[in-house]
Amino acid sequence: MATIRKMRPDDLKDVEYVCRMTAGPGCQKDPVLGYRIARMFSTYYVRECYDTCFVLVDDSDKAVGYILCEPDYKRYNKIYRKIDVPEIKKLDKKSGKQAWLFPIPYNFFGRKYPAHLHIDILDEYQSKGYGAKLMDALFTELKKRNVKGVMLQADIHNEGAIRFYKRHGFKMLSTKLQTATMAKNLL
Ligand SMILES: CC(C)(COP(=O)(O)OP(=O)(O)OC[C@H]1O[C@@H](n2cnc3c(N)ncnc32)[C@H](O)[C@@H]1OP(=O)(O)O)[C@@H](O)C(=O)NCCC(=O)NCCS
Repeated sequence: MATIRKMRPDDLKDVEYVCRMTAGPGCQKDPVLGYRIARMFSTYYVRECYDTCFVLVDDSDKAVGYILCEPDYKRYNKIYRKIDVPEIKKLDKKSGKQAWLFPIPYNFFGRKYPAHLHIDILDEYQSKGYGAKLMDALFTELKKRNVKGVMLQADIHNEGAIRFYKRHGFKMLSTKLQTATMAKNLL
């Protein structure tokens, strides 16, 4: 049995672990790749906006899943590119470039959908309805804050996740460069 609570800064290590473990076999085996992916997709949120993020925790209060959300694309663009991208660039130039490019869809669609999210759950907790509960917790939080829309990016081949997002009201905005960009109105 797992439960949902607001994220705290001290969830960082567990959140980065979930990020690595759910990003495919390459990230599970290769610690450098795992670090890069976790640095790109999870570290920022625990540091900068944990108050709009939720974790799924096991009986020992350890995070086994999460929904990460930055409600303000402009703030994300500024801080992520200033603090996180240079760190990722230290690994190699290509990773730095990829990290720098990542916010582009958020900036392009951000006026209509200012928030964006990442959701991941460890294998053994998947397909039990926890993803739906994390989505509900986030939508309630964002509506309370008058955030008008939320978007996300997913690998175009991740059909299970895309089906999951459609079921939760997300519409496809674009499918460029192997990436599905999806969004949902909240107000
Ligand atoms: C996608 C994910 C967050 C959904 O959460 P969940 O708790 O498993 O979802 P729920 O139990 O509420 O709903 C089940 C649906 O989730 C999706 N899903 C389930 N397992 C999945 C998996 N391993 N990978 C991708 N999607 C999955 C399917 O659409 C499933 O519906 P189906 O039964 O019709 O196939 C979760 O499965 C997950 O973390 N998957 C691996 C990481 C991932 O792909 N994250 C999204 C990156 S963009």
